[in-house]
Amino acid sequence: MKILLLGSGGQVGQELQRTLTRHGELVCLSRQELDLTQLDRVAEVVGLLQPQVVINAAAYTAVDKAETEPELAHSINGVAPGLLAEAAQQVSAAVIHLSTDYVFNGTKNTPYEETDTTDPLGSYGHSKRAGEVAVLQANDRAIVLRTAWVYGAAPSAKNFVKTMLRVGPERGLVKVVMDQVGAPTWAYDIAAAISDLVAPVQAGQGGLYHFASSGVASWFDVAIATFEEAQTLGLIEALPEVVPIPTSEYPLPAQRPAYSVFSCQKISQLLGRRPPYWRQSLRKMLAELAAQT
Ligand SMILES: NC(=O)c1ccc[n+]([C@@H]2O[C@H](COP(=O)([O-])OP(=O)(O)OC[C@H]3O[C@@H](n4cnc5c(N)ncnc54)[C@H](OP(=O)(O)O)[C@@H]3O)[C@@H](O)[C@H]2O)c1
Repeated sequence: MKILLLGSGGQVGQELQRTLTRHGELVCLSRQELDLTQLDRVAEVVGLLQPQVVINAAAYTAVDKAETEPELAHSINGVAPGLLAEAAQQVSAAVIHLSTDYVFNGTKNTPYEETDTTDPLGSYGHSKRAGEVAVLQANDRAIVLRTAWVYGAAPSAKNFVKTMLRVGPERGLVKVVMDQVGAPTWAYDIAAAISDLVAPVQAGQGGLYHFASSGVASWFDVAIATFEEAQTLGLIEALPEVVPIPTSEYPLPAQRPAYSVFSCQKISQLLGRRPPYWRQSLRKMLAELAAQT
């Protein structure tokens, strides 16, 4: 089987390079090889490569910058995925596309279901929601997998966990938001789930699915856990002090949902297993980081 992977250099994309190889031929395209702002090239490239499955891990992910570049975010996240899904349909390929918890406004206090109404708070969320709709409309064998709070160990990966490991030891004290809750999700776990979705998507079990770690945490909890696990693994010497603060004390250009917890019942049924507990995966990711150093 031939799988075409876009965004292979990103956090999830790099892990997909580890998990997808078992399916046969994996063709990875970097941004240089297919820039999703070049909308007219999308169909041409897919037509040339003739894959059986297209996996889109590429996205404009600069959530705050998207507030000042809404057109660019919309083009990459909202328009290009639809064209990709349409091009895949033309060559009878199924599609797996990634989306985000930022399609919700976060005002619920029970886990978000796939059937819940979307209401993005910012440009990034709006652009990702447009992409979801476009993909599901354009291809009758498409999975849109929403995930949340992604972190990975790849050297180029930019995420909260790696930021904590950098600034914690530097400053000795970090202030971290305690009134946004979700589930930090290891890029490897997402990639493992996507690899297991290849057969179901080809069999026509498409649709919208939520995938995030099991359990719930605030960013404050994640910071504490990161430092504790990192110390145990010898990644840091002393535990930095972590001070809980409200979101109002850490203003950013884009508003984030306060509550980002997913119900993962639907994906658990499809995969026959629940997503791993967030702290167990965090420990595994940090062990990988420790092995890199
Ligand atoms: N990060 C999170 O916390 C989070 C949360 C929920 C959902 N998601 C979703 O999960 C997916 C993967 O996220 P991630 O964290 O792995 O993202 P990431 O690390 O930022 O990687 C994004 C990838 O997209 C590529 N890309 C950006 N603009 C492009 C363009 N114009 N043309 C082609 N490729 C382009 C990047 O290429 P370069 O390497 O050249 O920059 C990079 O390989 C995305 O759909 C994202 O929306 C992420």
